[in-house]
Amino acid sequence: MLRTVVLISGHGSNLRAFLDACAHGTVPATVVAVGADSDAPGLEHARSAGIPTFVEPLERGVDRDEWGARLADVVEGCAPDLVILSGFMRVLPPTFVHRFAPMIINTHPSFLPEFPGAHAVRDARAAGVTETGASVIVVDDGVDTGPILAQRRVPVLDGDTETVLHDRIKIVEREILAEVVRDLAARESAVLQEN
Ligand code: GRF
Repeated sequence: MLRTVVLISGHGSNLRAFLDACAHGTVPATVVAVGADSDAPGLEHARSAGIPTFVEPLERGVDRDEWGARLADVVEGCAPDLVILSGFMRVLPPTFVHRFAPMIINTHPSFLPEFPGAHAVRDARAAGVTETGASVIVVDDGVDTGPILAQRRVPVLDGDTETVLHDRIKIVEREILAEVVRDLAARESAVLQEN
């Protein structure tokens, strides 16, 4: 059973799906804590499941490296095997990433390396593409540049608004996140059995 800490910034619909998957045993993982960079509405999903939450804001004028180290201390205190960024909208500094690499993954609403960054769905629509996608990657020091663990195409349909398209992509994000976590858990247990 993989111990995970999930970081969010928004409504946490993907977090909610992941909590459900853990509860139903469709992924061999447990969420030991959920963190955010503000009092994100999605924290409520954790609270109502009785899962501890924490908020570590990046205050104006505060050094990003210091913030990253502070956030890493809190996460490390939860002793996770895996950190999942699920709609966490801040770029994490190396002071955070290097503490958990490579066991830190991010879900992203495009077929990377297409449309990296915070506005992937808007950018795909603006580019007029007929398909975009969803990816799960390992987090590195860049913005959406880490090794790709899983990805799948999603069509852009006539009449899609940004919200409608994003909601369709999120369904795929949830599926491939579950696949990746199952895979990582299987590898972890294989390593344990070898030792
Ligand atoms: C997801 O598409 C995630 O990949 C992106 O933000 C969205 C989060 O949605 N970075 P939600 O907060 O889980 O509803």
